[in-house]
Amino acid sequence: MKFFIDTADVSEIRDAQALGLLDGVTTNPSLIAKTGRNFREVIEEICQIVDGPISAEVVSTDYEGIIKEAAELREIHPNIVVKIPLIMPGIQATRWCTDQGIKTNVTLCFSPLQALLAAKAGATYISPFVGRLDDIAHDGMELIAQIMEIYRQYDFKTEVLVASVRHPIHVLESARMGADVVTVPYKVLAQLAKHPLTDIGLARFLEDWKRVPQSQES
Ligand code: E4P
Repeated sequence: MKFFIDTADVSEIRDAQALGLLDGVTTNPSLIAKTGRNFREVIEEICQIVDGPISAEVVSTDYEGIIKEAAELREIHPNIVVKIPLIMPGIQATRWCTDQGIKTNVTLCFSPLQALLAAKAGATYISPFVGRLDDIAHDGMELIAQIMEIYRQYDFKTEVLVASVRHPIHVLESARMGADVVTVPYKVLAQLAKHPLTDIGLARFLEDWKRVPQSQES
């Protein structure tokens, strides 16, 4: 399973990159706004930090606008993946991008039928938002299971990118289902390594080590 980080904060991206586990980055207009920085400048900097797919989202909602933005975004860096909202003009634009060889991440997916349309349009990634579904008492991970079942039946090449991840259980279930990618906030990435028994065990080992006679050398 690939790990993407879901942030536009370059210091978080540098920290995640230093772990050696990072396969890519996803951003969205809200994450860019949080940085208070210029969109293009942030995306260019992220492309310098991570050598992997970097999702940058369009803000147009009409076909012509989306494909114009897609063509401009692809010029920024070969690793750019154009993030397109799952609306009808977005699906049409995804097909255009696929035909032009532009990679796409179809976002704001909340149903398996939306995911089917994205795959038919040749999307590189589909981003189902599990956390936002959980927020309204729908089972987000059930959506992932349904999409994976459909994609398997027809051998679609679109990769399932689990988005809107809020906690480690989302990551665990994604891995158990065999999702292609999870995109996680830095906080969740850090939580994955944590276990109270690891901390207790390590403290005990280090305490016990103090009773081990040390060599007289040096
Ligand atoms: C990533 O591609 C999505 O934009 C992001 O995961 C949404 O997460 P949120 O629901 O926590 O805003």
